[in-house]
Amino acid sequence: MELPFAESWKIKMIEPIRKSSRSERELWIEEAKYNMFQLRAEQVYIDLLTDSGTGAMSDSQWAGMMVGDESYAGASSYYKMRDTITRITGFDYVLPTHQGRAAENVLFSCLIKEGDVCPGNSHFDTTKGHIESRKAIALDCTIDEARDTQLEIPFKGNVDIEKLEKAFIKYGDQIPFVIVTITNNTAGGQPVSMDNLREVRILANKYGKPVILDSARFAENAYFIKMREGGYETKTIKEICLEMFSYADGMTMSAKKDAIVNMGGFFATNKKDWYDMCKIKGIVYEGFITYGGMNGRDMNALAIGLEENTEFENLETRIKQVGYLGKKLDEYNIPYQRPVGGHAIFVDADKLLPNIPKDQFPAQTLAVELYLEAGIRGCEIGYLLADRDPVTRENRFEGLDLLRLAIPRRVYTDNHMNVVAVALKNIYDRRNDIKRGFKIKWEADILRHFTIELEKA
Ligand code: F0G
Repeated sequence: MELPFAESWKIKMIEPIRKSSRSERELWIEEAKYNMFQLRAEQVYIDLLTDSGTGAMSDSQWAGMMVGDESYAGASSYYKMRDTITRITGFDYVLPTHQGRAAENVLFSCLIKEGDVCPGNSHFDTTKGHIESRKAIALDCTIDEARDTQLEIPFKGNVDIEKLEKAFIKYGDQIPFVIVTITNNTAGGQPVSMDNLREVRILANKYGKPVILDSARFAENAYFIKMREGGYETKTIKEICLEMFSYADGMTMSAKKDAIVNMGGFFATNKKDWYDMCKIKGIVYEGFITYGGMNGRDMNALAIGLEENTEFENLETRIKQVGYLGKKLDEYNIPYQRPVGGHAIFVDADKLLPNIPKDQFPAQTLAVELYLEAGIRGCEIGYLLADRDPVTRENRFEGLDLLRLAIPRRVYTDNHMNVVAVALKNIYDRRNDIKRGFKIKWEADILRHFTIELEKA
């Protein structure tokens, strides 16, 4: 008999979590104005709000924390981190920032001006926020197939090359760069193929435009390329990473995901002119160029985390757990964005709660139901997160309305996944009784989902 699959690590340290009663949760979620971000973490049993900064560091990473160099300038921890990043990405210039959006802020401050258009594949919310707050447009050029949650294709995060070329022709000089997010978080943690990255590069060259990779989950993207794209089966993850980055001029990185640290990020490039511009902004917003908002010990942990998480076994353990939850959901016929993505399952709320109209926010309603059912916290990636159109101020209902269940790296066991699956099944079984969603009581102009206040519709 073939031996079953098991994790490529064992557990050395545990953190207790606590269950609560339904009546406790009813009170807490009402106090939180039905906003998951306003709950206290201790009011949550299984926390799938995000995979960002929530991973479990390895013994080697913790060991690295003890020998961090906290010098203001020229810390050895910076050089260790820089050398690791250069080896894995091929980029020589590395500017640390306190997290991913800070790298966006530094870079976009140099590159974007009012009226610009930045094409890409489903920009992440902070990326869109940093573009739109500069009165520029984040133009989504994701392939149309990504919108059909039941369609199974291997690289559902890809850029539509025709849409991109149309954008180049239409907006010309208004385009400062193309930004490709690997994996494509908003479309469901879906990967972008090497072929697609190559095509983007060729087209960008034709129109003289630089390419940036939003790389929060680049190692997971490399895993999918190895598993799904012809010609990469025998390549190592590190070889695949080097090729992916060879098609870009620079990268922004939230190290809280694939570098498995609790805080950290960076911008990296081979363009000296970009680095020289960015380092000035970096000093103003983040800190000196060899720490940029990070502790020395955190830079050590980042270097070690990147090294570990660009190895196949670690990625396989992680992505197979997400797949395990997907299989459980299949048993119960729960509709989600197919195929299963790298870091999360994205449940299709429109399909799961057919009686909730769009303007009552089905995915948010499902998030509240799942919390009430079992103390599980997910995150709406849908109509609330989409914010209002900056010009018309109307809600944007054109995209998908999904409940994201993001799995932290190396944190929960498959038993926790079983609880999540059954909780969703119970909601699915009583879906016809769920008829009321939510309406907005108060909202911010931008990135409203973090602070929004809701009431029952
Ligand atoms: N880019 C992508 C693709 C992301 O998913 C995120 C963060 C960022 C940039 C910003 O990085 O948080 O370090 O400032 N995503 C988290 C999430 C918050 O839950 O998906 P950050």
